[in-house]
Amino acid sequence: MIAKDAASTTPAPDHPTMLAVLRLAARAPSVHNTQPWRWVFDGVRLHLYVDADRLLPSTDPLARQLVISCGAVLHHVRTVFADRGWHTDTTRVPLPERPDHVAVISFRPWPDPPTGVHSRALAIGRRRTDRLPLYTPEGFADILPRLRMLTSPHEVELGVLDQAARPHLAAASKEADTVRDGDLLYQTELQWWVGHSEMSEGVPSSALVSEKEFARVGIGRAFPGGPHSARRAQLEDQAQLVVLSTDTDTVTAWLRTGEALSAVLLECTAAGLASCALTHITEIPAGRKLLANLVPHPAMPQVLIRIGTAPEDSDMTPPTPRRAVTDMFTVTEAH
Ligand SMILES: Cc1cc2nc3c(=O)[nH]c(=O)nc-3n(C[C@H](O)[C@H](O)[C@H](O)COP(=O)(O)O)c2cc1C
Repeated sequence: MIAKDAASTTPAPDHPTMLAVLRLAARAPSVHNTQPWRWVFDGVRLHLYVDADRLLPSTDPLARQLVISCGAVLHHVRTVFADRGWHTDTTRVPLPERPDHVAVISFRPWPDPPTGVHSRALAIGRRRTDRLPLYTPEGFADILPRLRMLTSPHEVELGVLDQAARPHLAAASKEADTVRDGDLLYQTELQWWVGHSEMSEGVPSSALVSEKEFARVGIGRAFPGGPHSARRAQLEDQAQLVVLSTDTDTVTAWLRTGEALSAVLLECTAAGLASCALTHITEIPAGRKLLANLVPHPAMPQVLIRIGTAPEDSDMTPPTPRRAVTDMFTVTEAH
């Protein structure tokens, strides 16, 4: 009853707007492109749930990366709504006993969203995970304060690593690869999610790199079935490495990490920079410990990001696929 009254007086975007926003926001990055989220609109508020069927039990047993992915789509959604004049008041993990219900959004008109929202919204369609070698990011010193401004409201620390960290991370990457080599469940998950085409989820082979390209990056996740190519052949990776960390390892901290990750990736894209999120090192206890020791104060490292400038003549990688918005969105009665 109360909610019905509320539905008649509380403003909310109409159905076509909702669909258009969710469709664009679904371009958000997610671990193995699993897109592990569900949206429910109750006539007044928009609810975000994790889709536990899309958990990667071996890669991500605690669902940390699943929730980070949901945080990324949450930030994408809020960015697109803001760009269309909607302020989104967001409650994170509203019921402690239901950690799968990760956010509730209510709406009010917002005629003058802050500068930067529009360019980040525009960047959504252009952003790609770039797994090839990159040059040092042009203008990184100028963009860094903006990145920190975007991550700090989420209580996510953005640590900038110096190049001396690279050999340690390359060794940790190799170690992660070796540990996973004999892990049948992990390999089965990879085979399921990676290297196929004509699917609406997963990482297609067009987004992968060859063994030679992979070797010139040195700190990527090893994926099966890459192409036989030698793109950016003269380039050894010079990307800037940054780490997002939190003080705690809670569902809210993971969600906030995803929001901060999305903000960083979109701001970099808007500034003409390429990027690649990496988590394989964080999946191995020794790798996570190593990362924690590389950032200024002890913390929980969540995601490593490569940020760089792609060569001007490099072709834009085709976009990875996404599920239909109708598969991830339902409308219920107001309650
Ligand atoms: C939590 C999270 C973890 C990820 N981990 C990795 C990773 O370890 N290695 C990698 O190459 N890409 C990683 N990615 C990038 C995803 O594979 C990528 O976002 C997804 O395939 C969709 O492609 P797109 O980003 O080009 O749209 C990660 C993304 C997220 C959000």
